[in-house]
Amino acid sequence: MKKVRKSVLRRGRLPAKMDKRALEYTSSLAVDEEIFEADLKVTKAHVAMLINQKIIPFEAGAKILSALTKIQAQGYEELAKDGFEDIHEAIESKVIEVVGEHQGGWIHTGRSRNDEVATCLRIRLREYLIEVSENLINLLQTILERAKGEKDTLAPAFTHTQIAQPTTFGHILLAHFNALTRDLSRLLEVYNRVNCSPLGCGALTTTGYNIDRRLTADLLGFKDILDNSIDAVGSRDFILEAMAAYAILAVDISRLCEEIILFSSDGYRMVELADEYSSTSSIMPQKKNPDSAEVARARCAHTVGMLTASLTICKALPFSYNRDLQELNKLLWQSSKTTLDTLKIVERMIATLKVDRARMKELVEQSYSTTTELADTIARECGIPFRAAHTIVGMVVRKALEKGVEPSKISLEMINTFSKKVLGRVLNISEEAIRNSLNPSTFISRRRVEGGPAPQTLDKALSDGWLWLKEKLTSIREMRAELERADKRLVRIVGKYISQL
Ligand code: ARG
Repeated sequence: MKKVRKSVLRRGRLPAKMDKRALEYTSSLAVDEEIFEADLKVTKAHVAMLINQKIIPFEAGAKILSALTKIQAQGYEELAKDGFEDIHEAIESKVIEVVGEHQGGWIHTGRSRNDEVATCLRIRLREYLIEVSENLINLLQTILERAKGEKDTLAPAFTHTQIAQPTTFGHILLAHFNALTRDLSRLLEVYNRVNCSPLGCGALTTTGYNIDRRLTADLLGFKDILDNSIDAVGSRDFILEAMAAYAILAVDISRLCEEIILFSSDGYRMVELADEYSSTSSIMPQKKNPDSAEVARARCAHTVGMLTASLTICKALPFSYNRDLQELNKLLWQSSKTTLDTLKIVERMIATLKVDRARMKELVEQSYSTTTELADTIARECGIPFRAAHTIVGMVVRKALEKGVEPSKISLEMINTFSKKVLGRVLNISEEAIRNSLNPSTFISRRRVEGGPAPQTLDKALSDGWLWLKEKLTSIREMRAELERADKRLVRIVGKYISQL
């Protein structure tokens, strides 16, 4: 256990040192490493604003700024050596130690740890959201590239895990692409709501000092400020919605992993995971197991679980700040990191995935998956209702299975046997039209409706996909640039004050 040091916060009201176990139990210091840099920025922006507004003596302010720069250079480890309630208390104590209480004692003027921590969390989360989005874009690019390469690869598509209809493997990959684009949109929308400043809201009712909330927001790169101060320090829906976006992304990723696992299993053998992402058995020398995909599938469960825990922490919590909120932070960072790790691994798995085109073709040809098109063709060419054609073809398939007739060998004669039963007459259709409709390539080329697998439709989906990604990449670059510009503004004003000492 760390040593319990004399606290600058407690000495007035609670002169007794906090019980060691209680301090360790309630302290967020270990988790606060995530917001070390953010707190230094927040504190610098706050102090620069206090100087600018002439709320604190210039010399005290400038000395605090220079102490903060020193603390930053020494790093988090040095700061977290002793037991503190959190990073905020640690930084204030350290500043006082460096410049003396006479000057350092001004640091917390017109703010509270409540608006301080809420601001730090938003700053760190902004960075994670950008990083997660960039990694998601990487994955999306890889999927798109692979989809382009497999654009004409005949593949079975499934409903109920039964072969349903033929499609192309490119079309299947694009399904995952499309689902994941919505995850990216969600993350970027969440970013806009995270990007608002609660700084200046104090403990919960702002402050009587003449502070400038717009200035600190600007120095920290926030687009706007949060209005109601009770809401600003007491709400964490920005965390919940980020974690919800992660959790939905995790669900989508886990479905992709599940397909990799399923499609590489012995029954399917459609794809094979690269050796680099597979494991073998300690006893069965022939084994190749898709372990990376399995772990990713399970890791996604953590993300969902962490969201559930976070929602439950916030549920029925009275406004405004309660220490319960601190318990969200660890979950937020953990789910951000899990999301990043998973995205990186899954991107590699997809990039290196081996596709067995011959096997996929074989699966399509063995199945009766083109018979939807057979029924459609009969209905169209003979002018009979689809349901009648569906019934006739259903009977044909039953018979074909019974007699072991391959899908491609279904004849007009067989069809007419059942047409007589259902319609009381034979069908006016050529053998060639039947043959053609049972061909998987015809099946695909006829599906040129928007969203379908026909080659020209997929070409359009692919080029739309590239355009969309390019646009999103530009907005993410702009978000990063916006933050970098703010960082420069902060460095400039801090440098200016320190140089005037
Ligand atoms: N460590 C705290 C948290 O993460 C900081 C805010 C503490 N505020 C307070 N009133 N005790 O939430």
